[in-house]
Amino acid sequence: MSARRPLIAGNWKMHKTIAETRTLLAELCELAMPNGVDVMVAPPFTALAAARDRLRDCGIGLGAQTMSEHEHGPYTGDISPVMLRELSVRWVILGHSERRAYFNETDDGVARKVRAALAHGMTPIVAVGETADEHQRGETIAKVTFQARAAFAGLTEEEVRKCVVAYEPIWAIGTGLVDEPASANGVIGEIRGAVEGLEYARVLYGGSMKGDNATALMAEPNIDGGLIGGASLSVQSFMEIVAAAALRAAAPR
Ligand code: PGA
Repeated sequence: MSARRPLIAGNWKMHKTIAETRTLLAELCELAMPNGVDVMVAPPFTALAAARDRLRDCGIGLGAQTMSEHEHGPYTGDISPVMLRELSVRWVILGHSERRAYFNETDDGVARKVRAALAHGMTPIVAVGETADEHQRGETIAKVTFQARAAFAGLTEEEVRKCVVAYEPIWAIGTGLVDEPASANGVIGEIRGAVEGLEYARVLYGGSMKGDNATALMAEPNIDGGLIGGASLSVQSFMEIVAAAALRAAAPR
């Protein structure tokens, strides 16, 4: 059905100073990234410039963890898409569950940010996912399809295809609990079916993805890669996941 290229996205969250960023990226850039796989990292805003300099000619893309929907203005503390583009940022994670929970990001706000990212030539990685309670109550599909429809509302199929979705069960983030590959595959299938164009877009799994579960997750037909938190903070654990993506790239479906 597709030639969707695997994507491994490292979400560093609020980790790594500038000095630590330089060290980690220097080590990563010594290693060859496999053919057929997109790899990107999203350091904190303060380290983006250093990361951009370090990543030149390295084969790893640069992402941001969130951004404003506005280009400029009286939004104290926020960072605009124009500022990110100036730093050669190509990817932006939007609607991460931590942003939704701690920074009051809403579905409508995420939708506006998706439009802003596309307007500025960046690829949005839109995170969706259910809480432990929603999971228990059997509301997973309803929750994530609602979030996906909201994030892409009003976009053309062409625009939706350019985006990336990350299905991240909130109960799996940073907990060591990981969704069953077949279950995640099923949820992602529903997400793809909910929005015209997502069939062709890349959809990642996120939530305690590690070297020892990445291969099984990415063996599932709907799972095109991973949004990686904890395991993106060390070269070894991140590269184990990148290697798992290379296996998937070698066996496209
Ligand atoms: P985790 O985080 O890999 O540490 O579970 C994933 C995420 O929050 O994107």
